[in-house]
Amino acid sequence: MAIMTLQEKVARLKSERNAVILAHNYQIEEVQDAADYIGDSFELSRIAAEAAVEVIVFCGVHFMAESAAILSPAKTVLLPEKAAGCPLADMVTPEALRAFKQKHPGAAVAAYINSSAAVKAESDICVTSANAVQVINSLDADRVIFVPDCNLAHFVSQKTQKEIIPWHGYCVTHHRVYPADIERARRAHPDAAVIVHPECRPEVVEAADAALGTGGMLRFVRETEAREIVVGTEMGMLYRLRKERPDLRFYLLSPGLVCPNMKYTTLEKVASSLEHMEHRVTVPAAVREGAARALRRMLEVPLH
Ligand code: 13P
Repeated sequence: MAIMTLQEKVARLKSERNAVILAHNYQIEEVQDAADYIGDSFELSRIAAEAAVEVIVFCGVHFMAESAAILSPAKTVLLPEKAAGCPLADMVTPEALRAFKQKHPGAAVAAYINSSAAVKAESDICVTSANAVQVINSLDADRVIFVPDCNLAHFVSQKTQKEIIPWHGYCVTHHRVYPADIERARRAHPDAAVIVHPECRPEVVEAADAALGTGGMLRFVRETEAREIVVGTEMGMLYRLRKERPDLRFYLLSPGLVCPNMKYTTLEKVASSLEHMEHRVTVPAAVREGAARALRRMLEVPLH
C-alpha cells in the first residue's frame, strides 16, 4: 500500500481504537512521522504512564512496551513487531541478579530501563540514560549494584561519590564503536562537535565532546553553536536531529551504529498492529508490582 494511504489507515484506526502511537528516537522515518510522541526511554515511559487512552502502540523494543504495560496495566499495550527485542536487556536474568545481590549484601540495586520486568522487580529503582546520575545520587545506600550496562555504569561512577558495582552487559550496537572512529571523524570534520551515547565504551565517551542520552542529544543540538555534529548513537537519531535543526550538518560516527531490532517496526506493521490488536504485551501481576515500584520510584526523582 502506498505510504500516504497507509498513514491515513493508521490515523483512522488510531482514532477508532482510542490509541496513541509512541515511537523511540531510533525508529525509521515513516514510523516517526506517524507517531503522536517521539522521545527517549524516559520521556516515553512518562507519557505511557499518563496518556488518557485505551491503547498504546509502542514503536520501539520489547522492554519499552513492557515498561508501558507495567505502568499502565489497565491499557492495552501493543508491540507492532513481536521480535523487536534488546540484546542488552537479555544479558541479565532475575536468577543471576538474585545471586549477585547475595554477593553484595547491603548494596542498593539500580536497573537500567533496558531490562526485563522480572529484573526490574528484583531492583530498588530504575534509571534511564537521561537520569542515571540523579537517580543514583538520590539513593540512601553508598554502594549500588548497576545492571545490566557496564558502560553506563562506568559513566555514572565518574559522576557520583557512590561505589558502583557493575554488571557486565553492554549494548551490542554502541559497544562496536572505538576511539579510532572518533579520530577518523575528527580528521574528516575538524570543526564538528562529537556527541556519543553513554552506552559507548569509556574510552569513546572520554574522546567525545559530550555523552548524552537521545533526549539530551536533542537538547544539545537545539542550543549548540557548532555547525556540524558527529553523532555516536543509533542511526535513526539522525532523522530526528535533522528535523530539529535542518540548518546543521549531521554525520553518523560509525556505519556500525544500526540496531536491527529498532528497524523491524514499519508503518505497515503499525497499521496491522492496530487492526488486529497485536502483539499484546502483558506482565504477570506478581512481577508487575515490584517492577512498577522500581519504575515509579525513578519517575519521582526530581531532574535538575
Ligand atoms: P535513550 O534512553 O537515550 O533514548 O536510549 C535508549 C536506548 O535503548 C539506547 O540504546
